[in-house]
Amino acid sequence: MKRDFLTVLDLSKEETEDLLNRAIKMKSSQGMSGCPLIGKSIGLLFDKASTRTRISFQTGIYQLGAQAIYINANELQLGRGETIEDTARVLSRYLSAIVIRTYSHETIERFAKEATIPVINGLTDLHHPCQALADMMTILEKKGRLEGIKMAYVGDGNNVANSLIEASSLTGIHLTLACPDGYGPDRTIYERAASINADIRVMSSPEEAVRDADVVYTDVWVSMGQEGEASMREEVFREYQVNRRLLSLARPDAIVMHCLPAHRGKEITDDVIDSSQSVVFDQAENRLHTQKALLEMIVR
Ligand code: CP
Ligand code: NVA
Repeated sequence: MKRDFLTVLDLSKEETEDLLNRAIKMKSSQGMSGCPLIGKSIGLLFDKASTRTRISFQTGIYQLGAQAIYINANELQLGRGETIEDTARVLSRYLSAIVIRTYSHETIERFAKEATIPVINGLTDLHHPCQALADMMTILEKKGRLEGIKMAYVGDGNNVANSLIEASSLTGIHLTLACPDGYGPDRTIYERAASINADIRVMSSPEEAVRDADVVYTDVWVSMGQEGEASMREEVFREYQVNRRLLSLARPDAIVMHCLPAHRGKEITDDVIDSSQSVVFDQAENRLHTQKALLEMIVR
């Protein structure tokens, strides 16, 4: 039975713990992890831009002994009317797994339904689960635990926020999201996490959310595909900037996280992202290690 990773909750709590521990071990072995995927081909089908996801997967796949095949979605017959389902059936005959970055989450679900190989979500409008794995690893490295950590997410209730909700519900992180009215996280995702007794709260005050936090996290105000709303969104989110004043309300040893790319001077200021409290580049590096551990776990 093939295993997909479309959302964080496709892994159990125990699997997530194993994966994070394996990723930490892989990191300490500096890329030498044996070649469990030797001779395999893994596709990377991207509909949107990417720096971290694409390059960390390509590098990690090579380090595991397989080859990565980057596929620009516009260059497939998909763009000329071949269906997602037929594309999934055909690519399953060549590849051992596929990473997909696209717009609608439904697209990746349709692909995964017909594919006979593992499908990994490299970001959709609704979820960014690979990012959340690297985020959990980074918190574990910096704080030594996940259970009981107080995390504040400030800004747009987007794909990154939705996956952080699911990751927090699995790991026991206390997550408070500060989002403007009408820009909160996905209701279904939030209610499901809340229903399993996770400590997830949504509010509108960034100050209240950040007070005494161990982790302060933010993401862009304008996600890929929302460029047409940019000026309106910049107005709506103006009070949601992570700056020195806001960060001073968190614990003195709080770490600052951002999935990147950052829009400096918008959701985060230079003096915060470049400060000693910022862990954003360790976080970006950890994409490589957690994705290698994920591939090792689900690719056969
Ligand atoms: N954080 C992240 O997914 O970055 P990319 O868009 O560069 O892949
Ligand atoms: N929320 C952002 C994340 C980019 C990694 C986006 O979807 O564009």
